[in-house]
Amino acid sequence: MSMRQRQAYRPPPTTLADGRYQVGEVIGAGGMATVYRVFDHHERVDRAAKILKEAAAHRTKTRSRFLTEARTMANLNHPHIVSIYDVGDEDDYYYFVMELAEGGALSQVMRRLGSLPARTALRYAFEALSGLEHAHRAGVVHRDVKPHNILLTADDAVRLTDFGIARILSDASAMRITGTGDMLGTLAYMAPEQRLDPRKVGPQADLYSVGALLYLAITGRRPIELGMGKLDEAIFERLPEPVRPVVRRATAHRAEDRYPTAREMAGEVAMAMSTVDPTLDVAYLMDVFDEDEDTVLAVRDTLPTEDA
Ligand SMILES: Nc1ncnc2c1ncn2[C@@H]1O[C@H](COP(=O)(O)OP(=O)(O)O)[C@@H](O)[C@H]1O
Ligand SMILES: [Mg+2]
Repeated sequence: MSMRQRQAYRPPPTTLADGRYQVGEVIGAGGMATVYRVFDHHERVDRAAKILKEAAAHRTKTRSRFLTEARTMANLNHPHIVSIYDVGDEDDYYYFVMELAEGGALSQVMRRLGSLPARTALRYAFEALSGLEHAHRAGVVHRDVKPHNILLTADDAVRLTDFGIARILSDASAMRITGTGDMLGTLAYMAPEQRLDPRKVGPQADLYSVGALLYLAITGRRPIELGMGKLDEAIFERLPEPVRPVVRRATAHRAEDRYPTAREMAGEVAMAMSTVDPTLDVAYLMDVFDEDEDTVLAVRDTLPTEDA
């Protein structure tokens, strides 16, 4: 934390939108933004509000990316994608209001419980894939599918979130967000082609991430080994037999060797779900989660002088 970048501390707002939203406790945080529980006085319901951190809010590029994130999500209406209700700024606080996922992130759940029963992991993957199928059809590649961005409702249903680095396939301006060779995504879940050039990814990069997520959720091991070409067979065999070909195909090195669509992968996941033997489930301890699991943003994008 350099002194140059440090700014006078400003407490979070107590309300947003002229008093409409009462800001409650912090429920999550990332590099650029903090997520709060809020109460909507108009509709009398709890929601979640993502507020851009003040240091980040001073940069035009970050602000416009934040707005793009909100708009991308607002344009995707799907039962397994977090709904957006409101976008705004007030006194230099940039925020958007979304549905509250009471169950928290899958990363939080797995930190508490360890690995998941195979059928639960497969169901989460299935639901995430149905959300991704919708996004892909709308021309949006998520690019950062991982347990931190898979939220769960009170009823234990998946809500996909964090389209902060999503790529809009038809949007030429999106190409300007990253320079060549800059890393964008989260290493352990990232398809090989995304590591090489985040601008060139298609829907298959998200399918890789879902495969990596399945591997982690069932084996308890960070999926970094998957993409490194030195797969630990003993760990891989923690996967129930019907799940192995699904993870193998989803995480194939070449994008063209993966499933052609999220829908097709979802079909195979559903098949595996109906054939795994729940009596064979073993709970494994979870690898440490948060070390170097943060989304890596483009190098240029994190330079403080960029667009002051
Ligand atoms: N709608 C929500 N309901 C409940 N928790 C949320 C919600 N949105 C975000 N969170 C929590 O906040 C964390 C960070 O949110 P996210 O949108 O992924 O921000 P970032 O872009 O900083 O990663 C999530 O991993 C999750 O724990
Ligand atoms: Mg996130």
